[in-house]
Amino acid sequence: MSRLPLAVANWKMHRTPDEAAVYAERFRERMAPHAADLDRRFEVAIAPPFPALDRLGRALSGSGLALAAQNVHPELEGAFTGEVSRGMLEALGCRYVLVGHSERRQLFGEDDAFVAAKVKGLVGSSVRPILCVGETLAERERDATLEVVGRQLGCVLDAAGDALGSRLVVAYEPIWAIGTGRTATPELAQDVHAGLRERLVDRLGGIGREIRILYGGSVKPANAGELLARPDIDGVLVGGASLDPDAFAAICTENA
Ligand code: 13P
Repeated sequence: MSRLPLAVANWKMHRTPDEAAVYAERFRERMAPHAADLDRRFEVAIAPPFPALDRLGRALSGSGLALAAQNVHPELEGAFTGEVSRGMLEALGCRYVLVGHSERRQLFGEDDAFVAAKVKGLVGSSVRPILCVGETLAERERDATLEVVGRQLGCVLDAAGDALGSRLVVAYEPIWAIGTGRTATPELAQDVHAGLRERLVDRLGGIGREIRILYGGSVKPANAGELLARPDIDGVLVGGASLDPDAFAAICTENA
């Protein structure tokens, strides 16, 4: 089963629309020598903050590079101050949206049921969910990693697994590796990815082998290659290093 590798830049709360346009110009320059058949070898998406989506989308237009959002509300519209709907993301041409990032879960109180409702809300949409799962250091130390990520994934599969099929993307991001410079070793990451794969196949059969599982947590040019070489690591979700267009382009092109 060949799964098209996917690299996603998560800018978190960084970059204005003007800064996004400057980034896009530099990033496209860096990607240009690889552009001809890149889309058949490696898919690339960038998730800026909401205010920069429109500008970045225009700046990426015609490049084959995809636009992603960092969050979405489960409802189609309504009195939800500060929230953004799937239709708004569709209108901006987003191909992906992050759902259940650990920062949303930890800092904004999103629980498994809310995350599952968000993913369910994307059934039938052109915007595909990237479901983030991951354990805390305390959970890893008491050997609960697979139980935690299995629960986080299971809720989403129960709510929308059959309807989404291979449109679902999963991202394993151990919380202790996010923004800490402490990357999971490729072996350790592969173990968790294999556990997630087993659950996907148990629940969805062959489709589970088509679903991409990304790794995130202190990914940089120096470690992306060894992570991507593992059989169940189908891409990367990059925070800090993706703010530098040269570094993110190196991750994308050196591994394509
Ligand atoms: P860092 O790459 O900065 O560790 O962030 C990872 C992350 O949270 C991406 O979603």
